[in-house]
Amino acid sequence: MTLSQQTYGELEEIAARYPEPRSGLLPMLHLVQSAEGRITPEGIEACAGLLGVTAAEVSGVATFYTMYKRRPVGDYHVGVCTNTLCAVMGGDAIFDRLKSDLGVGNDETTEDGKITLEHIECNAACDYAPVMMVNWEFMDNMTPDAAARIIDDLRAGNEVHSTRGPRIVTWREAERVLAGFPDDLADEGPAAGPASLVGLGLARERGWTAPSSEQGSAVHDDVPEEPEQVEQAAADASPPSSEGATVEKESGTSETAAEKGDAQ
Ligand code: FES
Repeated sequence: MTLSQQTYGELEEIAARYPEPRSGLLPMLHLVQSAEGRITPEGIEACAGLLGVTAAEVSGVATFYTMYKRRPVGDYHVGVCTNTLCAVMGGDAIFDRLKSDLGVGNDETTEDGKITLEHIECNAACDYAPVMMVNWEFMDNMTPDAAARIIDDLRAGNEVHSTRGPRIVTWREAERVLAGFPDDLADEGPAAGPASLVGLGLARERGWTAPSSEQGSAVHDDVPEEPEQVEQAAADASPPSSEGATVEKESGTSETAAEKGDAQ
């Protein structure tokens, strides 16, 4: 396949967004994937030529990051998180089920070109483990059956939505969004679900705020550097015993940890 004039124009457009054009390389590579279905030698040459860097430099970036693919990706890239938390919560079982249903292994694509299956690393959605991603949209709290149903729907051409709302588009369409050409679907769902907002809710309820930047740097200045200082700081910070530990209340008075626990 040959890159179209439109793609060359859009690659230039991306590079022009940055004071230092080579900063545009990552989105440019996503655009190449959108146009070509993978990172092709021609795509590498095009990026290198437009940015005034060598093809080896572009290739080094494209082979370093796992979101860039040298082999064609199916219409739907299905990533199953098998990092520790998701794995123990069922990620391994989901991956095994999909592998068996689809008849493919890791980083392989089904014969009909619809699904590429891949183990993926933590996607910072551990509060919804086990997590599956379809074209980088979240599928939270998955089970093997739920994951298999989603795959069946995708292969049948049915409309599928992320558990957070947005409609699932094809991998090439999603790559275009990652290149910085929005499809206006990003606000179809909530940015963060309830489980991710529990800490924020507690902080608001209790009036907790982050320290100011001056306070933050003061805290940083106090960090002990020598081993003896570290030991002394640890001893100073340790309560006499876990049962008798005291914590400061917002009023300035103190209460035992046990009392505080009772109150919660
Ligand atoms: S371990 Fe799976 S999202 Fe963090």
